[in-house]
Amino acid sequence: MKKFMTGRGYALVGAAVLALGGGVVASAQAPERNVWSGVYTAEQAERGKTAYAENCAACHGDTLAGIDVAPALTGGTFLNNWNNTSAGDLFGRIQSTMPLNAPGSLGGKTVSDIEAFIFQSNGFPAGELALPPNQAMMTNVKISAQKPAG
Ligand code: HEC
Repeated sequence: MKKFMTGRGYALVGAAVLALGGGVVASAQAPERNVWSGVYTAEQAERGKTAYAENCAACHGDTLAGIDVAPALTGGTFLNNWNNTSAGDLFGRIQSTMPLNAPGSLGGKTVSDIEAFIFQSNGFPAGELALPPNQAMMTNVKISAQKPAG
């Protein structure tokens, strides 16, 4: 038994604990960003456009304008609904309730690609970094209907 507890083993456990601790500190300190500061890439929105056409357009329309009971995903009412929430909130809403006929069927990467396309369609600018493929990693990205001053 004792022979398995080598010095190397302890060192590995120590490194893992350190890595974990570092992650927690990093996420607690993640600075708040805003959808107006470029939180997705143009390439990502392009992938999202394709995924949107396959999974969402039948109900929400090719131009995101909404059809019948499926609301628009661009414009005043949509932005009002999501004003002062986070990209993580919208991600969670999409991943857990949409597509309405198959909720939970889309992987995180597809959901974030589609969210990037929705952001692009609402006039938020593209940037250098892609929207991450997971809800927890984008709770610091604020959605503001109006571009913040400054
Ligand atoms: C089968 C039809 C259908 C499909 C497919 C569908 N939706 Fe929906 N969606 C709806 C309906 C109806 C509502 C309003 C009722 C509700 O919220 O459940 C809605 C609501 C929403 C909302 C909330 C809008 C707001 O203003 O708060 C979002 C966001 C959304 N859908 C995104 C998507 C995305 C992204 C996809 C593709 C992955 C998708 N939906 C696919 C029918 C659909």
